[in-house]
Amino acid sequence: MSNQFLEAAIETAIEAGGILLSEVGRPARVSRKGELDLVTQADRQSEQAIVNRLRRCFPKHAILSEEGEGQEIDSRYCWIIDPLDGTTNFVHGYPCFAVSIALEEAGELLVAVVYQPITRELFTCSRGEGAYLNKTRIRVSGVAHLSASLVATGFPSLKRTPNPNIDYYWNFALRSQGMRRDGSAALDLASVACGRFDGFWEFGLHPWDTAAGVLLVREAGGVVTNFAGQPYRPGDYKILASNGHIHTEMREAVASVHEQTAKTSGPPLQQLHSCCYPHWFQ
Ligand code: IPD
Ligand code: CA
Ligand code: CA
Repeated sequence: MSNQFLEAAIETAIEAGGILLSEVGRPARVSRKGELDLVTQADRQSEQAIVNRLRRCFPKHAILSEEGEGQEIDSRYCWIIDPLDGTTNFVHGYPCFAVSIALEEAGELLVAVVYQPITRELFTCSRGEGAYLNKTRIRVSGVAHLSASLVATGFPSLKRTPNPNIDYYWNFALRSQGMRRDGSAALDLASVACGRFDGFWEFGLHPWDTAAGVLLVREAGGVVTNFAGQPYRPGDYKILASNGHIHTEMREAVASVHEQTAKTSGPPLQQLHSCCYPHWFQ
C-alpha cells in the first residue's frame, strides 16, 4: 500500500516542481504573511496543483498544507505539504528550494518526498524501506565527532526581533568544522539524510517544513529528536537531527548554550516566540 502512496507523492512533487521551475525568473508577485514571511504566486500555484492531485487520488485523506488549501477530514491518513520550502531563496533567485510532501498514517510518518527541481534531486522513502536519492540508496555520514562535522541551521521568518538561535549558531560555529544556513529546512534534512550535512537544528519549524525530511533522515540511519533527546514529532518547537554519531555532542552543545543564555538577562527563548506562535506553548 505504501508504494501506491509513494508513487502518488513522487508524481505530485514532480508536477509541483515543474510549476516552480516555470515561475523561476518571472517577476515574483510577492505578498507578506508577516513582516518577513513571504508568499508568492509560485507557492500558491504549486499548492493548488498538489492539493488537486491528492484530493483526486485520495478523496478521504486529510491534507495539511502551508498556504491553507488543504482539507480537514477525520481520516487515518494525513498529507503534510510544503508547496515551496525556501520562498525567500526563490524570491531572490538563490537556487535552493524544494517541494516537500509527507504522509502520516495514524500519526506516524509513512512516506516522504523532497524534490529540488533546479538540480532534479528527488529524495524519497517509505517507512522501513530505506531512503533514496534519484533511486540510489542513501545513508547518513559516518563522521564521528562534532569537531569534524558540517552542520546546518535556519532562522524562522518571524519579525525583526532578536533571535535566540544566534547564540546557538555562534556556539556551533566554534565546535564544528563548518556551518551552513541555506534557507530550506526540507533540503537541510535531506542533506543530513544523504550525508552532505552531519547535523541540523532549528527552532519553531512547522510540520510542513520537517515532516518529509524527518522520515528521510530516520530511513537513512540518522536520529531526529528534540533538544532533550526525545523522538521529534512534526510541529515540535525544537528539532535536532544528525547522523547519530554526533548526536550526544550536539545535545551537549545546545544544553551548554541554554545554560549560558539562562544566566544572561535576555528574554527566554519561548517568550520571544510565544507571541507569534502561541500554539507551540499550549
Ligand atoms: C522556511 C525555510 C527556512 C526556515 C524557515 C521556514 P518557507 O520555510 O524552511 O529554512 O529557516 O523557518 O519558514 O517559509 O520558505 O516555506
Ligand atoms: Ca517551509
Ligand atoms: Ca513554504
